[in-house]
Amino acid sequence: MRIAIVGTGYVGLVSGACFAEMGVDVTCVDIDKDKIDGLKNGIIPIYEPGLKTIVMRNYEAGRLHFTTDLSSILNEMQIVFIAVGTPSDEEGNADLSYVMTVADTIADNMSNPLLIVTKSTVPVGTSFRIRDVVRKRLDERGLQDLRFDVASNPEFLKEGAAVNDFMSPDRVIVGVESKDAEELMSKLYRPFLLNNFRVIFMDILSSEMTKYASNAMLATRISFMNDIANLCERVGADVNMVRRGMGSDSRIGRSFLYPGCGYGGSCFPKDIRAIMKVGEDVGYEMSVIKAVEEVNNRQKTILFQKFNSWFNSDVEGKTVAVWGLSFKPETDDMRDAPSLTLIRSLLNAGVKVRAYDPAAMQEARKYLDDNIYYAADIYDAANEADALIVPTEWKEFRMPNWSILKKIMNNHLVVDGRNIYSKEELASYGFSYSGIGQK
Ligand SMILES: NC(=O)c1ccc[n+]([C@@H]2O[C@H](COP(=O)([O-])OP(=O)(O)OC[C@H]3O[C@@H](n4cnc5c(N)ncnc54)[C@H](O)[C@@H]3O)[C@@H](O)[C@H]2O)c1
Repeated sequence: MRIAIVGTGYVGLVSGACFAEMGVDVTCVDIDKDKIDGLKNGIIPIYEPGLKTIVMRNYEAGRLHFTTDLSSILNEMQIVFIAVGTPSDEEGNADLSYVMTVADTIADNMSNPLLIVTKSTVPVGTSFRIRDVVRKRLDERGLQDLRFDVASNPEFLKEGAAVNDFMSPDRVIVGVESKDAEELMSKLYRPFLLNNFRVIFMDILSSEMTKYASNAMLATRISFMNDIANLCERVGADVNMVRRGMGSDSRIGRSFLYPGCGYGGSCFPKDIRAIMKVGEDVGYEMSVIKAVEEVNNRQKTILFQKFNSWFNSDVEGKTVAVWGLSFKPETDDMRDAPSLTLIRSLLNAGVKVRAYDPAAMQEARKYLDDNIYYAADIYDAANEADALIVPTEWKEFRMPNWSILKKIMNNHLVVDGRNIYSKEELASYGFSYSGIGQK
């Protein structure tokens, strides 16, 4: 089978490499020439565990190809996936301009039967919009009899575990409107699900909705726990215990119950805004989702507030070590990262920032320029700092040498945005500790 994946970002590159790993002949397409040239030379544009190995292996085996020219390869393909970005526009709608540009290129160049699959996260109805654009253009080109199908196949991989998620998915959601499309998608995914075939076929609108509803549910759990954590602090309860107690109820479950300093990344914030807009467009207010976003915006300010109140708002001229910049561990993705809200508040208050991240230092420069000091490691970041703030729980931050930190820091406050440290242990080294949802 020959397929093309248009958009070689986090989703497109991982999907392309994983399909190739299963023996599919894959061409990854991107308009970013530097990215494509780099990939041909073994330069992986993102940090994602395990990705480089499978990209290199499949590129060298001739199953994975890279190009900037979709039109020249289109007619050799059975399936084209659209996996370009769908960022928020100024009003919070999903910006579909990248998706529709790809649809136009397909419509202008296809001359063989094709299955066009939307993998990008898109508002309900987008696959039909693509179908209508392509049909109209084919008719204008005199290709009334040329057969094509559209399908929706939203992606559920998590950055930081993307290869593993793609190779062993919990389930694959596919929205189709024809038997042919269902058979082709079944064939494509069969190798991934040999032990337990978990492709759930449904209609296209429900498939598109499933993606937004899933992300909205996960974001809701996070904001819910952040609200509970803030209440715990005020009434003297410990959210870590509350979380354990709640999570052992099988109706609730343990995952996504971790309080912290807010969700970020390239998906939850924009998808939450987009689903609210979808509601607005049909005259329905998504009240729960609205509250989820409000709680999250407030939560992203909590680390600065804790630091500021510990120093009684006398923070100008202080120095803060920030450990972790990416929006979560095991990725270099900085989009909507809570660390950015924190660092901007620190800088506005006249605080000097010394930051370290195991993977996102280069990416962080695009957002923060030279306004902060980029440290070589955790100890360099903490040197002469008045406080240590941890927005992202990378593994290498979990057991630092507190004796060294005690010596090299000027003041000894730790603000733990992910509850990875023990207050008692830190107290034994002479540190003050402020976590989330604890006394
Ligand atoms: N990142 C994730 O964890 C994740 C998970 C699930 C779903 N998604 C969804 O998948 C989609 C892609 O997300 P991403 O994070 O991979 O985006 P990304 O920004 O990492 O990559 C998008 C790529 O598309 C390319 N592109 C834009 N226009 C193009 C065109 N006309 N032709 C060819 N290439 C073009 C860009 O150059 C870029 O390399 C989004 O809709 C996102 O919501 C993302």
